[in-house]
Amino acid sequence: MNSNIPIKKLKPIISPSMLSCDLGNLESECKRMVDSGADWLHLDVIDGLFAPNITFGFPVIKSIRNKVSAFFDCHCMITDPYKYVEEFSKCGADQMTFHVEAQIDSLEKLILKIKENKMRVGVAVKPDTFVDHTITKYLDQNMIDMILIMSVQPGFSGQKFIEDVLPKVEDLRKNYPELDIQMDGGVCCENIDRCAKAGANIIVAGSGVFCHENPPQAISYMREIISRYI
Ligand code: DX5
Ligand code: ZN
Repeated sequence: MNSNIPIKKLKPIISPSMLSCDLGNLESECKRMVDSGADWLHLDVIDGLFAPNITFGFPVIKSIRNKVSAFFDCHCMITDPYKYVEEFSKCGADQMTFHVEAQIDSLEKLILKIKENKMRVGVAVKPDTFVDHTITKYLDQNMIDMILIMSVQPGFSGQKFIEDVLPKVEDLRKNYPELDIQMDGGVCCENIDRCAKAGANIIVAGSGVFCHENPPQAISYMREIISRYI
């Protein structure tokens, strides 16, 4: 390795999943999370086909975009992500994370389309999906900004953390020291240490933040633990 090339310093990022908030007061809940120290807001868009839930979509994201200036981390659990890239961009997504298990003709075309639409590219895998050559070939070309490793099955907040995904995070971190690695599903103050130790630097937490008695404290605690490992 050329020692003159500076290593990008990873940042610890906490992205509360708004699926766990009081959705009837989405605007104030987003603001509450920003005021509580959230770095990003995680918006779970589910179409009822890719995963067994129907959440919210473009009109809802657009309406909060006009009120909240935070980074919108959109997790797209949808069957046809290519079809909706422009819509995500237009409604104000800053990052579009799609699932490799979705119906995708060409991963390369999808990645390029997200970039053309000025969003960061995130690639998500379900708990049982491996990060294999279909993905690593784009990581090696620096075409992907973030990998999301799911630690629950897509669909709902409040599920139990799947411990078995941790080796996947460890392997990724070993091979890609500068990559943003996000974990999503069942992460809370009790297991953050294991996630951070494995190499995750971006944490999505729904119930781990919203059901905590002191959300600002939960957010700063999780960020502090991640900082110890990066
Ligand atoms: C599940 C979603 C998650 C979920 C996180 O499909 O992707 O973002 O809302 O909620 P918790 O942290 O409660 O598992
Ligand atoms: Zn999510």
